[in-house]
Amino acid sequence: MINQELIDELKSSKEDIDKIIEKIIKNLIREEKILRLSDKRQKKEYDELEQKYEEIKKLQETQQRLLDSFIKVIANAIDAKSEYMGAHCERVPVITSWLLEAVNESDEIDYTIKNKDEEKEILTASWLHDTGKITTPDFIIDKAVKLETVYNRLHEIRMRFEVIYRDLEIEALKRRLNGEDEKEINEWLENERKKLTEEFEFIAKLNIGTESVDDEDIEKLRKIAKRKWLRHFDNTIGLSDKERKRILQSEGKKKLPAKETLLADKPYHIVKRSKKDLECFKNRGFKINAPENLYNFGEIYNLSIKRGTITPEEYFKIQEHVIMTIIMLEDLPFPKQYKNIPFYAGAHHEMLNGKGYPRGLKEEEIPIPARIIAIADIFEAVTATDRPYKKINKLSEAIDILVSKALNGELDKKILTIFLKSKIFEKYAKMYMLEEQIDEIDINYYINKLKGK
Ligand SMILES: [Fe+2]
Ligand SMILES: [Fe+2]
Repeated sequence: MINQELIDELKSSKEDIDKIIEKIIKNLIREEKILRLSDKRQKKEYDELEQKYEEIKKLQETQQRLLDSFIKVIANAIDAKSEYMGAHCERVPVITSWLLEAVNESDEIDYTIKNKDEEKEILTASWLHDTGKITTPDFIIDKAVKLETVYNRLHEIRMRFEVIYRDLEIEALKRRLNGEDEKEINEWLENERKKLTEEFEFIAKLNIGTESVDDEDIEKLRKIAKRKWLRHFDNTIGLSDKERKRILQSEGKKKLPAKETLLADKPYHIVKRSKKDLECFKNRGFKINAPENLYNFGEIYNLSIKRGTITPEEYFKIQEHVIMTIIMLEDLPFPKQYKNIPFYAGAHHEMLNGKGYPRGLKEEEIPIPARIIAIADIFEAVTATDRPYKKINKLSEAIDILVSKALNGELDKKILTIFLKSKIFEKYAKMYMLEEQIDEIDINYYINKLKGK
């Protein structure tokens, strides 16, 4: 009996245990199902994330390629703007990258490139260093003779000489009609015409600007300028509104026929600088002295240029390109890793002796990348063979220029020494210079010079 009770009890417990086990199994199956589902979901999410990452990476690469192409398009546009630029913006980065690598490997200077981003930042700055030249007027970049604006005004002046030449003949004819001595008149006419022709030749030669001009030349110019001719036509019609206003404000409408001088510096030749310009320079911290006027197209003023063909106003306009480089690049939202591009690019005309522009930075304020770009910039310019009207230098002459600039405190002596020791100039010469330019270079002579020996 006792046994039967025990059996019954055990049976009932077995049933309970079975039920519990069954429940546990069911739970396990359910959890397994949930786990499998969640694994699947997690995997899906992971796959989606991976796909998105790939897409972002691709997008970043496309954007970088687009940015790189934009940079090159800008540089090429500046090079294409004028024959005088040649391939300057394209070649400066070539020299910059070689010199940067050499500086990075050299023990002569305490500088190492931290990472790929820093290298890219410096090279991009070299590509963009002359961006501001987009704003430099073509007639200044291309100004080959002194009287050139958008065209060579010598043609206009030559026509005045023609007028005076005929006036002399008219005067001779009048004198003949008055019964003066024929022989005397002929002699006078011949002498006057000869003098006039010589005067034109003097002005034409002065216009070229390859020879320096002394005070005696300027005195002669002023004397020639005083010759008179009669203007019978209104000089205030057929002009742009701006030019007409400038003429009317400066001399009004003259009664015709008006007596004019052969050459003149008229008030309307002067284009005033806007105050906004000066305020902008000051606010941005540019320590560059801007001439009072924006332009001075005075004929005597231009012909009196003592060296070359550029007036101080035009020279400033050329220097202004680096101000425009800074303004334009500072307005671009460069990512954090490229934040120094405007600074490096905008400091390529700064000099270690503090006499550079546009900020007149001191030696310790000029970063190594800007010093490297400055050397690349000058070396490209002085070795170029594709700039019209510019003398083609031999390799030794180009290196002479660089070394004298370094000795003058304009360029970094240590970086220039690395430039010489690493023979970058040789590699560059083989690729971009004419055979007849390449001459023997005694590197030790220059290195010793840089060391002050
Ligand atoms: Fe420049
Ligand atoms: Fe440049």
